[in-house]
Amino acid sequence: MDHFGFKQGEIYAEDLPVRTIAEAVGTPFYCYSTETLIRHYNVFSQAFSGHDFLLCYAVKANTNQAIIKTLADQGAGADVVSEGELRRALKAGIPPEKIVYSGVAKTKQEMQFALEQGIFQFNVESEPELHQLSTVASHMGKTAAIAFRINPDVDAKTHAKISTGKSENKFGIPLSHAREIYGIAAKLPGIRVQGVDLHIGSQLTDLAPFAEAFRRIATLVEDLRVDGHDISVIDLGGGLGIPYDRESSKPPLPTEYGQMAKRIIGHLGCKIIIEPGRLLVGNAGILVSRVIYVKQGENRKFLIIDAAMNDLVRPSMYDAYHEIVAVKENEGPASTYDIVGPVCETGDTFARDRDLPDLNSGDLVVIRSAGAYGAVMSSTYNTRRLIPEVLVKGGKYAIIRARPTYDDIIGLDELAEWQD
Ligand code: LLP
Repeated sequence: MDHFGFKQGEIYAEDLPVRTIAEAVGTPFYCYSTETLIRHYNVFSQAFSGHDFLLCYAVKANTNQAIIKTLADQGAGADVVSEGELRRALKAGIPPEKIVYSGVAKTKQEMQFALEQGIFQFNVESEPELHQLSTVASHMGKTAAIAFRINPDVDAKTHAKISTGKSENKFGIPLSHAREIYGIAAKLPGIRVQGVDLHIGSQLTDLAPFAEAFRRIATLVEDLRVDGHDISVIDLGGGLGIPYDRESSKPPLPTEYGQMAKRIIGHLGCKIIIEPGRLLVGNAGILVSRVIYVKQGENRKFLIIDAAMNDLVRPSMYDAYHEIVAVKENEGPASTYDIVGPVCETGDTFARDRDLPDLNSGDLVVIRSAGAYGAVMSSTYNTRRLIPEVLVKGGKYAIIRARPTYDDIIGLDELAEWQD
């Protein structure tokens, strides 16, 4: 459930008409709802109540300081994958002891910085990375608490570009090598083994792959304990999907996910960590855009809006479906549109064959479920300015990232000294 609904014939963000914000801020822009963020955080936390549990928000989904802070204030930790993300999480007020550091290949500098901060856990993904961490930590006279990210070889049945738990994917340690690498780690200086980690993919709409992966991990934890390792943490990763198309898709609820996880791994008595990103922020954000032109092609009608693939790349990159609605509720005649942006690529298409009310230049539309992997994946392609982000709380709104000027963008370039 989100807080972007129709009231008095138009879409509101919580208690504010989206139109009012659009008039003040200009389009296109991202708009987030505080209430929705808090609701999603609470639903997930309640799903694991009664357990030693930590929700580490996967900040890659939306790294805006105001978004991280909203979740930090609820008690969230963070899952980060780079020094930059770690710095953002710390700056937004997430305490280091609630931070796990994932990522395929952490560099020496990144390890050093994370060790200085005293984070809760490194999720190590390879043997070379383990040796590097051991060297860095022992030089600093520190001990790195680690889990290994295990690749359980389970098909997440999601888009190939966001599936990570199959043996052919670059992620994690193969399950078949797990006992061996834990044995190696136990003997290394500067390393303390504390947990097991996995993450099999994103936007999963079925519990079965999760359940299969969790069963494999539960067996591994038992085996590792037999081998003498003190395993006290299981990090289940993120990946639970959201209903992008609310008519036809009903992914499992966090409550069902939590019950299933507790059933499979609860008896092991470990601290449970989860790393959701999309589920917390996806439906807590919309992209608001204005129609520039309505263009009649030979046999298709194009709604050309002022947002483009550089603002929200998911449809062109993953063939992702996003609901698109007119801001003004209209019972009048409908048209079938291809909804496209102004960028010079055919891939700059948000949707094809969508039925919407008859729209004109200047009308507002909303692209739903754009809070996750939207703003963070945007670029200035075609020298388009990054778009503002706005946070709503009740009847108030704040600009949480302003629209840069053209000088800001072009000013990043410099001529070579011989070009005077
Ligand atoms: N933990 C790890 C180690 C991850 O790699 C990810 C996401 C998450 C947690 C959070 O997954 P979530 O709960 O958000 O599914 N840009 C793509 C999604 C990429 C996901 C990458 N990893 C998209 O727009 O669909």
